[in-house]
Amino acid sequence: MKAGQLLFSLPFYMKKIVVFSGAGMSAESGISTFRDSNGLWENHNINEVATPEAWKANPLLVQEFYNVRRKNIIDAHPNKAHELIAQLEVKFDVCVITQNIDDLHERAGSSIVYHLHGNIRYAKSSGPNQEKAYYPIEGATLDLEKDICPDGYPLRPHVVWFGESVPMYEVVIPVIAAADVLIIIGTSLNVYPAAGLIHHCSPSCQAYLIDPKASEINIPPNYNVIEENAVAGMTQLFNKLME
Ligand SMILES: NC(=O)c1ccc[n+]([C@@H]2O[C@H](COP(=O)([O-])OP(=O)(O)OC[C@H]3O[C@@H](n4cnc5c(N)ncnc54)[C@H](O)[C@@H]3O)[C@@H](O)[C@H]2O)c1
Repeated sequence: MKAGQLLFSLPFYMKKIVVFSGAGMSAESGISTFRDSNGLWENHNINEVATPEAWKANPLLVQEFYNVRRKNIIDAHPNKAHELIAQLEVKFDVCVITQNIDDLHERAGSSIVYHLHGNIRYAKSSGPNQEKAYYPIEGATLDLEKDICPDGYPLRPHVVWFGESVPMYEVVIPVIAAADVLIIIGTSLNVYPAAGLIHHCSPSCQAYLIDPKASEINIPPNYNVIEENAVAGMTQLFNKLME
């Protein structure tokens, strides 16, 4: 067999790109980040709205807080960076792992999106079997009195609160480990265990960080840094990857 024939018969390999996104990914869609607002998220103390203790103490406040977040997210649109990530699928095998609870990656057209911290467009039981089933929410509002899970407990947002376990973590370790290219975008890498995920990529993986405050973020020294907002940085990297 000639060398040319051998090459022709090899299966086509699509490079694997894993995108690991955080709140900054959606900032240019008008959804505020967490740490950029002085430790308060939209004038709320995180401990009063995003912990299991908060739900126990004041479920109505928590439900209303997420109803407002959900309405903002429904009204928002994917930005150019979300769109470019979806377009990478033309040439690459792309998986998105997001810490975001919004659904803007899906709405931009990304086919495979893992939500580490849940998806605000879904609800789950507030009882003991929370991970058994997720229910799509019609519209923006969950009602504490009327929206009851089949198991008899009120439905709560399908989001991972501070202090709760992250069931998706183990699922995405092999995904990130298989990456040829890792793109980290719009995350301060301050929230654990999510931030620890980046250490599961292989030594041969080509890694990029896109963040306007990249110089303040703790990353391994071999990373390529693009100190830009998501749209500008992703445009730059998209052009390079598609060359
Ligand atoms: N959109 C969302 O769903 C949303 C919004 C806020 C917070 N959260 C949650 O809060 C937690 C916060 O952790 P985190 O690390 O994702 O966010 P973070 O708030 O800790 O950090 C945000 C990062 O985004 C960067 N950033 C700000 N504007 C940007 C832009 N235009 N383009 C690119 N980057 C920009 C900041 O420099 C910072 O490094 C996450 O777990 C996430 O689930 C989600």
